Amino acid sequence: MTDFCKRLPPPPFKIKVIEPIKMITRQERKMILENASYNIFNIPAEKVFIDLLTDSGTSAMSDYQWAGIMLGDEAYAQCKNFFNLEKIVQEITGYKYVIPTHQGRAAENLICYALDLNETKMVISNQFFDTTLANIETSGAKTRELVISEAFNTSINLDFKGNMNIQLLENIIRKNNNVAMILLTITNNTGGGQPVSMHNISEVSKIAKKHKIPFFFDAARFAENSYFIKLREKNYENFKPREIAKKMFSYADGCLMSAKKDGLVNIGGFIGLNNEELARKIKERMVVVEGFPTYGGLAGRDLEALARGLLEVLEEDYLSYRYQQLQYLGKGLEHKNVPILIPIGGHSVNIDVRKFLPHIPQSEFPGWSLTLVLYELYGIRAVEIGSVMFAHKQEDGTWRFPPLDLVRLALPRRVYSQEHLNYIIDSIGELYENRDKIKGIKMIYDPGILRHFTAKFQPII
Ligand code: F0G
Repeated sequence: MTDFCKRLPPPPFKIKVIEPIKMITRQERKMILENASYNIFNIPAEKVFIDLLTDSGTSAMSDYQWAGIMLGDEAYAQCKNFFNLEKIVQEITGYKYVIPTHQGRAAENLICYALDLNETKMVISNQFFDTTLANIETSGAKTRELVISEAFNTSINLDFKGNMNIQLLENIIRKNNNVAMILLTITNNTGGGQPVSMHNISEVSKIAKKHKIPFFFDAARFAENSYFIKLREKNYENFKPREIAKKMFSYADGCLMSAKKDGLVNIGGFIGLNNEELARKIKERMVVVEGFPTYGGLAGRDLEALARGLLEVLEEDYLSYRYQQLQYLGKGLEHKNVPILIPIGGHSVNIDVRKFLPHIPQSEFPGWSLTLVLYELYGIRAVEIGSVMFAHKQEDGTWRFPPLDLVRLALPRRVYSQEHLNYIIDSIGELYENRDKIKGIKMIYDPGILRHFTAKFQPII
């Protein structure tokens, strides 16, 4: 058992349905890895003991949400669940037009289309998520990431490490008159689930307005961002998370939402916005690629579960418990001397791989290696956010590696208990003690774009 003794408060829910998980043998896991071409995305989920691959689509829904599933109105057009969802999103965000999509990346694709992105345009973010980047780059548009430089130093403890560098934003917009959108990711997943402050949001908003540039949120984790503002930003301690969310949204022209995170659902997304012309373009395209605009690739029941999830995710006792679970996991690992990115993020704890495995060069993908041993030895699946995911092969054939190599332990919502967290802490603590034995890995197939999903590897013996 872990000797990290701070206890979590009891969760603000009790268990009604369980899903068994099974620990198989190390030998079996070794075989599975070989068959999976050493890519953890190829491992059958049934063979994973604790799955920290993602917090996306992995939430446990409440009885209220499951009850909503039974109320699905499966009419092709204008189903009643759409109107429930529309009303709730309008109330939370203040945006007039609500367009459901089957998940976040569909929303990304649609906005790229509606903004007519092409080679002559540029999109700016604090940091993009990988599918967002892929959607924009596929349109031909250029991208710039302007998160504050402290975000790349894993040991600087800053309250709002997801903030945009405002000075740089202003300079770049002055030099380039082709900025088609500013997309602020809240919280910044790529940087370790770090929040953006209300102040920073308001500054970005001012600049966007001044230069008449559409300003959107990538709002996948908007509720967690709201809670961080409540905890950390002056004058917000007495606000409800829902009030903070409303204020945040009021600064932007709209949002793209992967509801698989802070929608507390297993599938779903939406676009919220005020601009009538953009909404019209999106809806027209929707019919071709996603479905009729009132269901957007989802069933009526999914829309209902999402509407209800959006209400639950803003409840303070839920957010407080979620925050404390993440703190517990992160502090437990720190207690075992495991190097992690600080401060601890809203949905994930991120291992600083270069400090964990300084003996493995980036060209041998240390983060990827770490995820493989974590699975082989302990049955835990985590995800590399580093050299495999973000390296670029340059024209001369050499690699350009990203500034950070992280292994993300993403915590599904309302799924794991303190005992599970103890198991994770103890396992990674033990692995850290034996880190010298871990070796690098060789990539033998590189598909290029979004390579982490399908790349193949071989251990370096
Ligand atoms: N934006 C952010 C910030 C995300 O984290 C994700 C997904 C998306 C957009 C895309 O949404 O998956 O619904 O199409 N992130 C997941 C993750 C996959 O594991 O972080 P989607």
